[in-house]
Amino acid sequence: MQENEVFTPCDFIIYGALGDLSTRKLIISLYRLEKALLIEVGTQITAVDLHEKTQAEFIEVANQSLKKFLKEEIDPDVWKRFSARLFYLQIDLTKKEQYQKLPTVIDSEKRILVNYFSVAPFLFKHICQGLKHSGILNSDARVVVEKPLGHDLESSQLINNAFSEVFNEQQIFRIDHYLGKETVLNLLALRFANSIFTTNWDHKTIDSIQITVAEEVGIEGRWEYFDQTGQLRDMVQNHLLQILTFIAMEPPVNLEAKSIRREKIKILEALRPITAENVVEKTVRGQYDHGFLNGKAVPGYLEEEGANTESRTESFVALRVDIDNWRWAGVPFYLRTGKRLHNKRTEIVIKFKQLSHNIFKDSFQELPANKLVIHLQPKEGIDIQMLNKVPGIDGSIKLQKTKLDLSFSETFKDKKVFGGYERLILEVMRGNPTLFLSREEIEQAWTWVDSIQSAWANQNDALKSYSAGSWGPVASVALLVRDGRAWEE
Ligand code: BG6
Repeated sequence: MQENEVFTPCDFIIYGALGDLSTRKLIISLYRLEKALLIEVGTQITAVDLHEKTQAEFIEVANQSLKKFLKEEIDPDVWKRFSARLFYLQIDLTKKEQYQKLPTVIDSEKRILVNYFSVAPFLFKHICQGLKHSGILNSDARVVVEKPLGHDLESSQLINNAFSEVFNEQQIFRIDHYLGKETVLNLLALRFANSIFTTNWDHKTIDSIQITVAEEVGIEGRWEYFDQTGQLRDMVQNHLLQILTFIAMEPPVNLEAKSIRREKIKILEALRPITAENVVEKTVRGQYDHGFLNGKAVPGYLEEEGANTESRTESFVALRVDIDNWRWAGVPFYLRTGKRLHNKRTEIVIKFKQLSHNIFKDSFQELPANKLVIHLQPKEGIDIQMLNKVPGIDGSIKLQKTKLDLSFSETFKDKKVFGGYERLILEVMRGNPTLFLSREEIEQAWTWVDSIQSAWANQNDALKSYSAGSWGPVASVALLVRDGRAWEE
């Protein structure tokens, strides 16, 4: 993955180009790549949508998106280069014959066709069939999709089948935007390039692992989608399980997609099922009530705009996850994620085992265990909690907890950090599938999540409420207390 390498130019086609994902993220990321000179000369970006628009009108839409979401001044030279790549095509994506307009803008002799599906899932099959009908696909063509890829195993298989009727597995790039985050990728480096971690990363040295993905945001006008989905499907099935596989997998033989995917799948297969028998002791689901965030009053889930006041959808999940393999036997992974929590924070805490013999009883009756904290966002870095002697010559050895703190923004001050979408778009253009999900991974993750979902459906245990701005329901504290542990705050 080298920057400034020469690759074949693309016909980058965005279906649903006037929609939210495209105007908030894709256009902004493409502009940033243009600015960094990472888009091949000759690449064309074609925006496809239902509405009639002239070329000039679409360029104005792109300009307005940049003004709103770029968070920096638009550079006139970059904009000139970027806008010269933009084309607009009106297509009703449900009408097969309208895809005949595509051959007028693409050139499969000179450019690789990248089809970015930035549309609602019901259109996936229509676009696949329309593309097939248009005759423009060849074996180099790529397709990019992102969640929701179904809401359970069955619906996800239907979506995957629609893709595989037209594309082979190597052509399909399924996005989980967490895999574009610098710090998630850094987990590979941390684990497999540092001998202190490669040799201390199993049940012999690690007591337990916590993964927290806390969000401040609520439903953000997406009530209908979210209410049919819930936090388990929206966040755990994808982002949290992806982080977990990176933490837990065996060393891949190399960095190629197939080696990494193979190891990730083994972890997903080793997840102990959560079923009706153990769902009460292993899961907590909650829904936020009104409360205060950053000093401001915020409404509860059932008071959000468009809410169905009877809803039982969870906005918070905490889980105890066990991985049944040699490395992780007996090491619990605690996962929690929720909306409207105290602050936005994604972090992994690796708690090492306590030493069995303590010769520093003057300082601590029980020696606190070492802790490695990996901060993924918003602050990126790692810190290690250690014990140190307090300096002094008074004869006794007094210990104190200290932190070895490595902040990435400080250490890599002059390195530009790109956002997840920039990296992922670039990898699609380069044809590198390493950071994308395979069909098998997604289906394995659904199998595990479906079991929890169906256990919940048959369980009368009430959804636990929590105040917006808190750390979730009290029951999530109890989940760890039962095991003699506590969440890291
Ligand atoms: C999305 C979910 O996939 O991830 C959202 O659908 C969630 O509900 C978002 O808010 C969180 O992403 P990030 O990058 O802000 O942590």
